[in-house]
Amino acid sequence: MRMYDVIAKKRDGGKLTKEEIDFFVKGYTSNDVPDYQASALAMAIFIKGMDAEETTFLTQAMMHSGETVDLSNIKGIKVDKHSTGGVGDTTTLVLGPLVAACDVPVAKMSGRGLGHTGGTLDKLEAIPGFDINLSIDDFIDAVNRHKIAVIGQTKDIAPADKKLYALRDVTATVDNISLISASIMSKKLAAGSDAIVLDVKMGSGAFIKTFDQAELLAKTMVELGTAIGRNVIGVITSMEQPLGEAIGNSLEVIEAIETLKGKGPEDLTELCLTLGANMLLCAHRVATFEEGVALLKEKISSGEALEKFKEFVTNQKGNAAVVDDYGLMKQPKHRIEYTAQADGYILDTKADEIGIASMILGAGRKEITSPIDLSAGILLKKKIGDVV
Ligand code: URA
Ligand code: CA
Repeated sequence: MRMYDVIAKKRDGGKLTKEEIDFFVKGYTSNDVPDYQASALAMAIFIKGMDAEETTFLTQAMMHSGETVDLSNIKGIKVDKHSTGGVGDTTTLVLGPLVAACDVPVAKMSGRGLGHTGGTLDKLEAIPGFDINLSIDDFIDAVNRHKIAVIGQTKDIAPADKKLYALRDVTATVDNISLISASIMSKKLAAGSDAIVLDVKMGSGAFIKTFDQAELLAKTMVELGTAIGRNVIGVITSMEQPLGEAIGNSLEVIEAIETLKGKGPEDLTELCLTLGANMLLCAHRVATFEEGVALLKEKISSGEALEKFKEFVTNQKGNAAVVDDYGLMKQPKHRIEYTAQADGYILDTKADEIGIASMILGAGRKEITSPIDLSAGILLKKKIGDVV
């Protein structure tokens, strides 16, 4: 088989076979297929598209391009959650302990922030001492004992996607539903959870701008997971404005703790209850969505969810005293207040630009190796519809 022929076939609108897709993914992972041929194929796929079967082949080939995590030593139905990326999205810090407090195991591999979106690992590291580098054995042990652990995604998960995503990023081939679905699901499926809730973000702060595209992305990813026997639910949520008030790492830790105390912003709380109830449904912990919401609310009001957060933080060497003393986290040197220049209502926010502003302040990274200031960020005191 020659890579040239695979590229030409897709360029002319042909349908790729499993063998052709495997040939490409294996060759690209082992560096036998060079970047210039992979870019040509990515562009041909971008323009000509792939059908459901080709997308499945690509997902499975990338999923098996590296290690697949075996979580079978964790008792119960392991549930994961993935967001397609937003601004100030603090949900994982809330959902992990909240769902774990319902006795559903959460074995989560998270990422770092890049560009205008934040990453759970950076947020957790704003808690003094927090360690995200557990071995897989310690990770499994932690989930068995505490029902929750969060670690960084190992280098060996879906290495083909790692290379291809970086290549797509610089060749204008990211925004294709088949490629995005295969990219996300290859990693999620390799990470080993039995059930996955997908939070597909839509709006100015997300890379999906319309409902039709969001629905197609959600359906495609659900089908990819279901095809290999995982229980997957897709939820489409708004990213027209940053979630909650806080954007920035230590600010979002505070916001998450406030939400676990039952005092969080309304939009963040609602999203956590929605995603959490779907996680409980996926894990067969509850029979209906409403039952799930009620159980989660009870775990917040009883204080059990906050206790679970402390237990989780302590187990990963973090200082759980932050729950009662936010001053234990690194503090910003300067605070500047911005007010509206005229009276009126907030009609619109540019979520992506606010995310970029926060990144420039130091809360995020322009490149994957850029340094980060965990104390930096923005507190948005007004949301769409508010009077200023
Ligand atoms: N996130 C991913 O992991 N992959 C994509 O292609 C897009 C968003
Ligand atoms: Ca937030």
